[in-house]
Amino acid sequence: MTYNVLMFADPGIDDSFAIMYALLNPKINLVGIVSGYGNTPKEQSIRNTAYLLNLGGREDIPIIAGAAGPLSGELVRYYPEIHGQEGLGPIKPPDNIQNVKVYDINKILEIVAQYKNNIIIVSVGRLTELALLFILYGNQALKDVSAFYIMGGAFLVPGNISAEAEANFFVDPIASNTVMEKAHNIYLHPLNITNKALISPEVIQFLGENSPTPFRPLIVPAFDYYYKAYQKNIPGIKGAPLHDVVPLMALTEPDLVKYIPRRVRVEEFGTAKGKSIADFRPRPDKEPPESIDNIGMDADFQKFTVNFMEIFLKGDFNKR
Ligand code: BDR
Ligand code: CA
Repeated sequence: MTYNVLMFADPGIDDSFAIMYALLNPKINLVGIVSGYGNTPKEQSIRNTAYLLNLGGREDIPIIAGAAGPLSGELVRYYPEIHGQEGLGPIKPPDNIQNVKVYDINKILEIVAQYKNNIIIVSVGRLTELALLFILYGNQALKDVSAFYIMGGAFLVPGNISAEAEANFFVDPIASNTVMEKAHNIYLHPLNITNKALISPEVIQFLGENSPTPFRPLIVPAFDYYYKAYQKNIPGIKGAPLHDVVPLMALTEPDLVKYIPRRVRVEEFGTAKGKSIADFRPRPDKEPPESIDNIGMDADFQKFTVNFMEIFLKGDFNKR
């Protein structure tokens, strides 16, 4: 089975690993990458995506320019201490990347129409662009998308950007709530599982020496930068969580994640801004079936490592 995947990403180091994973995974046909602000400013995020596509020889995949900031209009803060000055740790992508075409947001509808009812959206950045599609084109805008695999949220556990909130939800909580309410068939991958999707420096070292893919030179330096930031924040941590790889792997390895069906809402304002909320009582309040989302609350983390290694060791970077 091959999945047509349209990614929304803000590379960013874990986003970059996710993009490389998608390019290498034979079960994924990557049909576009929407790149907006998030871990880095929009222009940088586009440049990093272009660099990865260029390295992989996949300039045929359209890049779509995403948003420059959240719906609230608030100023954005970036995270060079985690993702590096330019989003790829110590790596500086060249300024003049050839053969890459950047489209505007309307291209998304064209791509969805082309793969009607046979396309999955995988969102691993802020949710602004997805929300914008509903705002610009109405509630039915993405009705032909088969499912939404999203990295975001933290349920009944601490956040990673504030006490209550996970970063993708926190930075644009209005967009996050909009998407949770308006998109259908959502598979959500919150910190509850992605924090445990650790890849160790030993695995990375091995891949840095043995991956036959064009991404090999990036693997160790990008990971090391990101891992050092995590070690600083969580002393003793045995690896770095590659949050954004999780939804892609969950799609292609359907027994990786266990989901609980609940309606998800996101706090839009106040001290709990960005907090994800669901009713986990044994007998939750009844909600309309169309409002129910699938929340990933447990995963097979051994499988996560094994599959990650397999893809970076055997991945097919020339697939079309
Ligand atoms: C999420 O926030 C971003 O900084 C990461 O790339 C990931 O998508 C984790 O909270
Ligand atoms: Ca991300």
